[in-house]
Amino acid sequence: MLFTPRAARSGRRRRPFFDELDAEFRFTLDPCATPANAKCRRFFTRDLDGLSQDWDRHHVFCNPPYCRMMHDWGRKCFEASRRGALVVLLAHARTDTRWFHDWVYGKAAEIRFVRGRLKFGDGCQSGPFRSLVAIYRPDIAGPTPPGDRHPGRAGAAWYDEVMAAMSAASSPRRPRFRRASEPPAFRLTDDDVEIVRLLARHRFLRSTHIAVLVGRSLDRTNDRLSRLFHAGYLDRPRAQLDYYPTAGSAPIAYALADRGARLLIERDGTEFANVEWSRKNRSAGRPFIEHQLEVMDFYVALQLAAQSRDDVRLIHPDEMVATFPDQSFAEHNPFALRVRLSHQGAMRETAIVPDLVFGIRFRDGSRRCFVVEVDRGTMPVTRSDIRQTSFERKMRAYLTAHAAKQHERHFGWKTFRVLTVTTDQHRMKTMMDALRRLRIPRSYGPALFFFTTRDTNTLANPISETWFDGNGRDTTLI
Ligand SMILES: C[S@@+](CC[C@H](N)C(=O)[O-])C[C@H]1O[C@@H](n2cnc3c(N)ncnc32)[C@H](O)[C@@H]1O
Repeated sequence: MLFTPRAARSGRRRRPFFDELDAEFRFTLDPCATPANAKCRRFFTRDLDGLSQDWDRHHVFCNPPYCRMMHDWGRKCFEASRRGALVVLLAHARTDTRWFHDWVYGKAAEIRFVRGRLKFGDGCQSGPFRSLVAIYRPDIAGPTPPGDRHPGRAGAAWYDEVMAAMSAASSPRRPRFRRASEPPAFRLTDDDVEIVRLLARHRFLRSTHIAVLVGRSLDRTNDRLSRLFHAGYLDRPRAQLDYYPTAGSAPIAYALADRGARLLIERDGTEFANVEWSRKNRSAGRPFIEHQLEVMDFYVALQLAAQSRDDVRLIHPDEMVATFPDQSFAEHNPFALRVRLSHQGAMRETAIVPDLVFGIRFRDGSRRCFVVEVDRGTMPVTRSDIRQTSFERKMRAYLTAHAAKQHERHFGWKTFRVLTVTTDQHRMKTMMDALRRLRIPRSYGPALFFFTTRDTNTLANPISETWFDGNGRDTTLI
């Protein structure tokens, strides 16, 4: 038996701990199991080694052995979620440990602390422990594989003995995508105003992004976001309903609402070209929102990666713009580059606007500048007609702009690299092949581009982990 509930011994009525989670997440894989204690029909045992198996797009209940391997299990949970699994990790709430800081805090989309104590009777330690549930959500929520539900509940019976109830849901639920008719009272704090500013700057953000960017816990951030939403400062764009992966607790995406825009106009003197934000939010489509959220996933990962090192500092997009030459600084979109492309004897002007611009500052004061392209696989890599959009045309534009030293005049940069995050290895290779075929006079060549795919570790730490340059060689940002 795994959990020996204290309440069982004291005779109190117990809450069905596992069942509550299972009802919410509908688990399809148990990667730490024996045939006797498996919670799903699909499971891995010590012999099969759940750590080295592919968790695919399963809904995973991971209750690992509580030993030295926690670091590896935490990493596996996070990495599997990057590859499309939805993972729920049940672990000791040891918030001072390295594995917690490396693989739970800032990595899991949500952390819930379990009220009361669970006794782990079959691990290497058996006292009653404070526990946590860390929820890692996939980048792309995959469909629940059919036919994988565990047929019987015999093996899960002991969970039903557990005395703990989840600490969530202590207050009455408010409608998630409709404003409450009687919003909860609140006074606007400085943090609230900062949240509104972040949304004006980044367009769409998940609650998990906002928690990192304002440096507050997810619980506190969610509380402020809920109040800001119900008071009309923020919107929860309805397009996300299309891909909302589970009914209960996925991190919600937010956008600036009209009242939030008015707040910034009054408080900061912010000028908006268009103040009808709520109308724009209603018409924003799912691909647009998803793309922006993926860009923010990358930005938040960068921020966390920079925070974990003391030898470099992240230069944020706003700081980058602040050092642009006057003319580009004053432009409507200071990041846009106008490029004249020559192709088969014809000239064509095109504009490239990177998804993100940032820099890395080193201790000696030097810096490296980067532009980022987040590719969601929706655009063809190559097209014979240069008038049509393709990723190849983008690469051609960056190479041409670099060869003409436009970055020096327009941004005041000595040089830069283009970071491309794409969907999978095959597409990355196709991009590299297309890049190597491009012939542009005085061009820096394929090494101007660094590539990675969204299923790699690189996105967990874009600063320290390895990228590929356009020649297929390993490289890093620093
Ligand atoms: C805490 S128990 C979880 C039992 C049960 N699956 C559950 O969720 O309640 C951890 C289980 O992981 C198994 N285990 C240990 N190392 C493993 C490995 N490398 N791969 C898969 N399972 C492993 C142990 O045998 C043990 O049954």
